[in-house]
Amino acid sequence: MCGIVGAFRRTGDVLPTLLDGLKVLEYRGYDSVGVGLVQGPGLTIRRRAGRIDELASRVLAEQAQGGLNGSVAGIGHSRWATHGPPTDENAHPHMDAGGRIALIHNGIIENYAELREELIGAGVEFHSETDTEVLAHLIGRELAAGGRLADAVRRALPRVRGYYAIAALAHEDGEVQLVCAREGPPLCVAVDEDGAWLASDVLAILPHTREVIFLEDGDVAELEPGKVRVTDGKGVEVDRPARTIEWEMEASDKGSFPHYMLKEIHEQPDVVSRTLYERLDLDAGDVRLDGDFWSDESLGNVRRVQVLACGTAFHAGLVARYLIEGLAGVPVDVDYASEFRYRSPILAPGTLALGVSQSGETADTLAALRLAGKLGCARASICNAIGSTMVRESDATLLIHAGPEIGVASTKAFVAMLVAAYLMAVRLGRAHGRISQEEGRELLAGLRQIRPHLEHMLTREAQDHIRDIARRHSSVKGFLFLGRGINYPIALEGALKLKEISYVHAEGYPAGEMKHGPIALIEPGMTTLVIASQDSVADKVRANIEQVRARGGQVIAVGADPGSLELAEDKIEVPEVGPWLSPLLNVVPLQLFSYFVALEKGCDIDKPRNLAKSVTVE
Ligand code: AGP
Repeated sequence: MCGIVGAFRRTGDVLPTLLDGLKVLEYRGYDSVGVGLVQGPGLTIRRRAGRIDELASRVLAEQAQGGLNGSVAGIGHSRWATHGPPTDENAHPHMDAGGRIALIHNGIIENYAELREELIGAGVEFHSETDTEVLAHLIGRELAAGGRLADAVRRALPRVRGYYAIAALAHEDGEVQLVCAREGPPLCVAVDEDGAWLASDVLAILPHTREVIFLEDGDVAELEPGKVRVTDGKGVEVDRPARTIEWEMEASDKGSFPHYMLKEIHEQPDVVSRTLYERLDLDAGDVRLDGDFWSDESLGNVRRVQVLACGTAFHAGLVARYLIEGLAGVPVDVDYASEFRYRSPILAPGTLALGVSQSGETADTLAALRLAGKLGCARASICNAIGSTMVRESDATLLIHAGPEIGVASTKAFVAMLVAAYLMAVRLGRAHGRISQEEGRELLAGLRQIRPHLEHMLTREAQDHIRDIARRHSSVKGFLFLGRGINYPIALEGALKLKEISYVHAEGYPAGEMKHGPIALIEPGMTTLVIASQDSVADKVRANIEQVRARGGQVIAVGADPGSLELAEDKIEVPEVGPWLSPLLNVVPLQLFSYFVALEKGCDIDKPRNLAKSVTVE
């Protein structure tokens, strides 16, 4: 959700560092933005509704005129509104009544209304509608009562119910204090000889250092140049070793592409290679995964898999079900994490809970995995973000190595999740004796063909063809996406992509369900996109196409089945790779299709309205 940055240097000016950090984190929330700086004897804040570029040009102009210079410490925030609309007043940082501290926050304070009442009763005047301002006043009052800022934070936070990552800045009597704390949303810190940094995402820290400390729930960290002290809520120092982050910063750059989404779609051949790297043992017909967790003995005890995920990752989890059940013969349940966490799930002994997440910080997925853990399940994850909460809390992780994904609409992480699910299915199948060495070799050899096929599907010519179809369908009144079997989740994913970035209504359905209701929607002006693989249900998909056409609907067929392609007005041919691998290729034209529809409509592709990349609140 919101993006948080902070910096404290021995000398120099942190404002450009904060603005660069906010730019990198803008994908986390982008309805308003602000900075708080150590200036003169106190603190100064600048904040406004709108994008980072607008704030940046204003504060840099102010600097050029001699203002806002020489701040050695500051905090910055890009907001995704929860309480109160995106206005200048609701933008962070917020200050306490005494002007002692500036505070930024990502999360939700659930008991903010009662705390606000109490503070108003005590004579505090509020200037925003946010839940965050309550925190600023609580901490400011504690600081006024005595002690250091970290003590004040530790005294105030037990009064709060909810989820937060916060950073607070104080500047009194010439002393600067920068403190951050976490309960729920992610927060990481780093130091080198000259400075200290905090951020809600490592991407904002990587330009300074690769050695990053990930805070844990309940941690309070005090930062100063060259030093960070992490304590628990009682002030007892805790050891949080730094981890080395290998991600390249260029990977978070748009390069020559107009949008991150398009760049990330084009990265998919490389991403597949990275996910597979050193994991294929073709001679043994098996998958190499580090750690005892993935051994025959350990996986042999897995009787059932419970997938927990949200959004696009949930769709990857649905594909994982077909792969794990079909290849390994292990039963799989897939739940929306947000539903699972609030029902009373019954998990049979031997159930492995599998979290799937790009960010590893999605609040619902983390809560669902924790619940599964409490119910006695071993926890594994398929995840992109090294050092994320999900990775740290899992017994084992299959990292997907997709690199930083900035586009809010997930693309390359989805494809990498499918590859990881395939690897896991083969490993489970081998451990359960369900896949022979020879079958393993064949399955893995198939995976190695994916990269060249993806490259072929991303040529200029292939892209132009999809762009042309997208242009002709961009003003229809709605879309139905149909798929069967392992490609049913791909229909869901295609519809989600289109909704997310082009704001067109789109429904994903199992093709066989069309006759049970959605067929009533079919009429001229309604486009049905059919995923048509050459599999055991290909003839049934052809029948679906006939039924749509008979009712005047337009059909776009995507896939490798010549019969279906023949029947459709528009066709996007996909190389034939067999049913198990077909989702990996079929999803790519759907990603491009949604991209080009959104482009045609002039939508803000990388920052779609109302969305945020990483949903760290409920
Ligand atoms: C994907 O395009 C979405 N923006 C969203 O559905 C996302 O997949 C979901 O929020 C889960 O995120 P995660 O993979 O980081 O857990």
